[in-house]
Amino acid sequence: MAAQYRIGLDIGQSSIKLVVLSHKEKEAKLVSLGHIASPQPGIISDADLDLEVVANSIKHLINEVNPPTKDVVVALPESRIFTRVIYDLPYLTNEELAQAIRYASEEFVPMPIADVNLNYQIIFRSSEKGPKSRTVVFVVASPKNIVEKYLKVLNMAALKPVAVETELIAASRALLGINPYSPTTLLIQLSATTSDFAVVSEGVILMTRSIATGGMALTRAIAQAFNFELIQAEEYKKVYGLLEDQLEGKVFQVLKPIADIILSEVKRVIQAHEMQNPQRPIKRVVLGGGGALLPGVVIYFANVLGLEVQQADPWYYINKDANLKTKLAVDAPAYTVAVGLALREN
Ligand SMILES: Nc1ncnc2c1ncn2[C@@H]1O[C@H](COP(=O)(O)OP(=O)(O)OP(=O)(O)O)[C@@H](O)[C@H]1O
Ligand SMILES: [Mg+2]
Repeated sequence: MAAQYRIGLDIGQSSIKLVVLSHKEKEAKLVSLGHIASPQPGIISDADLDLEVVANSIKHLINEVNPPTKDVVVALPESRIFTRVIYDLPYLTNEELAQAIRYASEEFVPMPIADVNLNYQIIFRSSEKGPKSRTVVFVVASPKNIVEKYLKVLNMAALKPVAVETELIAASRALLGINPYSPTTLLIQLSATTSDFAVVSEGVILMTRSIATGGMALTRAIAQAFNFELIQAEEYKKVYGLLEDQLEGKVFQVLKPIADIILSEVKRVIQAHEMQNPQRPIKRVVLGGGGALLPGVVIYFANVLGLEVQQADPWYYINKDANLKTKLAVDAPAYTVAVGLALREN
C-alpha cells in the first residue's frame, strides 16, 4: 500500500528540521512541521552518549509536532557521501551494470567498496546493444558506518526509517523534482557546516560537490573581526549580511572573502559541468539551506555569477492552508531538505 504520511527528518548541525506530509491525495499536503536547535556535538559524534542526546532532541520535536506516523525518511550529510555520474559505460544488462558500477566506483570512492552501500539510478540507457549504445548512471556510495549511525539514532528515537538518501537528492526533489522541464539549474545548499552543490537537468542530478565552508564560517569571521561572542556575531550576520550599504560595509567586508570562497567553488562546478555537458548550460541558481536567508546573498551571488539567482521555496508545490503561508515563508529555504525527504513516497 502506498504511504499515507511521511516524516522528512533533516538532522543538521545547527538545527533539526521535521516536516510531515500527507500523500493521500495527488498533491502532497502539509500536515505539520517543526525544528529544534541541534545539541552539540550532535550527530557528528560517534559516541553513543552524544547520539542519545540527539535522539532525545528528535523525540522532543516529535512530541511537539505529533505526526500521525512513525515512517521517516532521513538525509545523510552530503559531505560524507560520494556521488558520481558515470558516462562512459556501454549498453549493459542489470547484472552487468551492478558489476560495472562496483568497478567504476573504485575510482571515486576513497575507501574500500566493501565499506559502502552502493545505490544507483539509471539516467540514460540505449534501447539495445550496439557499437554506439551507452549507459549513464548516477551512483551514490554511502559509508556503511554512517548509515548505521543514522539508523541507530532513529531507532533510539523510536522512529521507523523507510528510506535514507542524500541531502542534495532531497533538495532536488523539493525544488525541481516535480518539473522535469525546468531549465538546467545549479542548486546550492548553504548550511551551517558546508555548502553543497548539485547541477540538475530535467529532474536528474548530473553533478554534486560539497565544501566545508558554510554559515558557521561566516559567523566565526564576524566574531573574530569584531571580537564578538558567537551569539552576537550570529545576530550581526542575520541583520547586515552581505549588504554593502550597512554599517559602512564593515560586515560586508568581513563576509565577502568567505562568500567568495563559496563562489569560486560554484564557478568550478559550473565550468566542470559545462565541459561535460556543453549542450546543457546552467540557466539559473537556486539557494537553499539556512544560509540562503543571509541578507544580500541573492544579489551578491547574481552579480558575481552573472546568472539569475533565487531563494529556494520548498513549499511552492506543497498544498497547505492559506493561513500558514506567511509563517512558512519566514525560513522556507531552511526546510528544503526536510520537505524533499517527506515528499519521497516509496
Ligand atoms: N536569517 C539568516 N541570515 C543568515 N544566515 C542564517 C539565517 N538564518 C539561518 N542562517 C544560517 O544558516 C545556517 C543553518 O542552516 P541550516 O539549518 O540549513 O543548517 P544545518 O542543516 O543545521 O547544518 P548542516 O546541514 O551543515 O549540518 C546557520 O549557519 C545559520 O547561521
Ligand atoms: Mg542541513
